[in-house]
Amino acid sequence: MALKRVVSWRIILPSCAKASKKNNSSSEPNKSNIISKQVSLQRLSLSDVSNPGSPISLSDLSSSLVGSNLHIFTLKELKKMTNNFSKSELLGEGGFGPVYRGSICDKLRPGLESQLVAVKKLDLNGSQGHKEWLAEVIFLGQLKHPHLVNLIGYCYEDEHRLLVYEYMAKGNLDDQLFKNYSATLPWLTRIKIAIGAAQCLAFLHEEEQPVIYRDFKAANILLDSDYNAKLSDFGLATDGPQGDDSHITTCVMGTEGYAAPEYINTGHLTTMCDVFSFGVVLLELLMGKRSIDKNRPRREQYLVEWARPILKDCHRLNHIMDPRLEGQYSTAGVKKAAALAYQCLSHNPKSRPTMRAVVKTLEPLLELTDIPSGPFVFTVNPEGKKCDEPRIGNNGEEIEEKKYYEKERIRQQRGRKHHHRGRRIKASSRSRAVHSDTTLYKALGTSLYSPKN
Ligand SMILES: Nc1ncnc2c1ncn2[C@@H]1O[C@H](COP(=O)(O)OP(=O)(O)O)[C@@H](O)[C@H]1O
Ligand SMILES: [Mg+2]
Repeated sequence: MALKRVVSWRIILPSCAKASKKNNSSSEPNKSNIISKQVSLQRLSLSDVSNPGSPISLSDLSSSLVGSNLHIFTLKELKKMTNNFSKSELLGEGGFGPVYRGSICDKLRPGLESQLVAVKKLDLNGSQGHKEWLAEVIFLGQLKHPHLVNLIGYCYEDEHRLLVYEYMAKGNLDDQLFKNYSATLPWLTRIKIAIGAAQCLAFLHEEEQPVIYRDFKAANILLDSDYNAKLSDFGLATDGPQGDDSHITTCVMGTEGYAAPEYINTGHLTTMCDVFSFGVVLLELLMGKRSIDKNRPRREQYLVEWARPILKDCHRLNHIMDPRLEGQYSTAGVKKAAALAYQCLSHNPKSRPTMRAVVKTLEPLLELTDIPSGPFVFTVNPEGKKCDEPRIGNNGEEIEEKKYYEKERIRQQRGRKHHHRGRRIKASSRSRAVHSDTTLYKALGTSLYSPKN
């Protein structure tokens, strides 16, 4: 089982000491405020609970989140569920701490059915702590959406902080895209994942008080058994600007390679920062490459810098597509997705589309069925003009580039074979590394990819 250590970074800006909402009055929320919020069914915001001097203490938390159906577990119960946090149950690990698979059995609690769960346990020697735990409880406890992971409950005992989520059978997108050597995510599955994640971000941004997710990346997108994407890990999520405020100012937190340039430079956070990060993940889905990889040739180490200029050049798009797809994608769909990624990755936040616009652009791509089903063959286009087909270019540079990708494709195929040997996967299961989207599509119809399913 892959043990995942996510590299997160923090740059503490001078403004960090007093991370503040722009133009926000310093008035502390008082108890009557909170009560009126509850009465008017408004969402309890993170600052209502996390500010020093906040009227809500930890012991008040459960009553403040009444209606959220969160269960409060004891440490003893969680130990039992996870076989005493057994290494064999380890699902992954990020900055907060390890995540274990567990099972809730019948009769543990009235109203709690038996099911598999994931239990995230704060690493007491790690860099995160109560604040991140609280953010998850506050946001995931109150926000519900089909593409948001379901928080079942939590535990706080002494210094221990744990979270209990629904179990997501296919783990995270990062592992599926970059570490699953036995099969490649097909094109339509990638688009389905992108749409699910985009719908969730649109939902967060359209809340009465917008929520900025702030750490959108492949490792935080979880997949259920049908590859439905659900956003998880709300440790860095924050309430966005309200009213006339254009942004909030915070310490710069997130993950290198995904964070928006203006946020890194100024600490100004807007929903458009999430849009940039979405563009990075879309690029990773198209290219099958990580946003940062120091093992790549120098000019290719930062995916956005390297690939963004190519996204608007339809003649070169095929050259940067994930070779593991073996050409099994809709060319028209790739062009639209690439143009969208280009816009999301704009340096000017105002030029980026809203997440709702992103959803609207991506959804029709599920209907495009011009997906070749056979093995991908490089073809020579004598005209060299049509961008619908892979071609060999007129100048040496393009030929070099093509050779590079061909070599890369062969290298990855060898890597897969090597991996199969190591894991003793039967020969029959390695005959086809890329599931054919077209076959799936024909067999099950577009409903398979319907975000509603
Ligand atoms: N509900 C879940 N089901 C299955 N795996 C999970 C679940 N939650 C987390 N994981 C695994 O644990 C990893 C770390 O979880 P995450 O919530 O991102 O932790 P962190 O806050 O430490 O980054 C995920 O990338 C995923 O592999
Ligand atoms: Mg994470």
